[in-house]
Amino acid sequence: MIRASRTWAPANLALVKYWGKRDAVRNLPATSSLSATLGLFGSEAAILPADADVLEVQGDPRRAIRVLQAARDLTGLRDPLRVVVRNTVPTAAGLASSASSMAALALALSRALGFEDDPLWVARLARLGSGSAVRSLLGGFVEWVAGIAPDGSDCQAREAFPAEHLPLAIRIAVTTDAPKPVSSGDAMERCRLTSPCYGDFVRDNPAAMEQGRWALADRDLARLGSVAEEQSLRLHEVLRAASPPIDMLLPASRDVIDVVLRMRDRGVPCFFTIDAGPSVAVFVEEAHADAVGSALAAIPGVIRVLEDRVAVEGARFLAEAP
Ligand code: PMV
Repeated sequence: MIRASRTWAPANLALVKYWGKRDAVRNLPATSSLSATLGLFGSEAAILPADADVLEVQGDPRRAIRVLQAARDLTGLRDPLRVVVRNTVPTAAGLASSASSMAALALALSRALGFEDDPLWVARLARLGSGSAVRSLLGGFVEWVAGIAPDGSDCQAREAFPAEHLPLAIRIAVTTDAPKPVSSGDAMERCRLTSPCYGDFVRDNPAAMEQGRWALADRDLARLGSVAEEQSLRLHEVLRAASPPIDMLLPASRDVIDVVLRMRDRGVPCFFTIDAGPSVAVFVEEAHADAVGSALAAIPGVIRVLEDRVAVEGARFLAEAP
């Protein structure tokens, strides 16, 4: 018996990056990662009983189909479902819309199928849609440990620090609404197989995690920024060194980086991070957020600046679907 359910899940931005898989079938990451959960931008999902399967999903439907199939396999569910997933971030533009949409979908399925009290069930399902989705289930600063167990039992996410530990505003310079030319899954695999600097990126991940954790523990924005910026630039180096090369940045992305560096030289406490796309997110102390937002909006090629902050809460249920 299916219960109608509706959920919302936030997007998240990686400070230490997940890039590459140690097990493609179970979707287990090769690297641990550290992220910040957003407050306003994310995805909504609804599961409703239906006469035949209907999938109304923004973004790549294969991810939702994978999650749905896993839920069917785990529960023996045969009933048809109507599945709705909508994003409030630009779909597939490197702003983690796959993370929020798959977290929202997994949580919605958990209530529809009676597993809502089992966070590991929800995380496992979310991970099959998008690795980084497990981080969107939680609020604040989230650590997702890659683990080494072949069955993925030690691959888990936890809140490393609550949002109020280091209150930060976020301004996201959106440089395109177009879907990225190569999906993150395909790009990861190409990097693993062909990029000469991929091995070093994975090797250095435990040190980056350590630095990120300590910077957060010390509430040290400058050190957190240096880890996040280094991780972003290295991720894009790994991508460009792949064969054939993948260049996800646009001229405007590089201009945003320059503006952030110049503002920081003038004493503005801020840093940038870039995931697998051309948009650039800037973390900044609240008192300087408006100044950063205006500077980003003035850059040619920045089509919009999104305003958000590191959020307390992760994915949650909404009032029951109609
Ligand atoms: O979870 P996916 O398959 O959308 O991959 C996310 C990869 C990055 O955003 C680039 C890094 C990360 O840790 O989120």
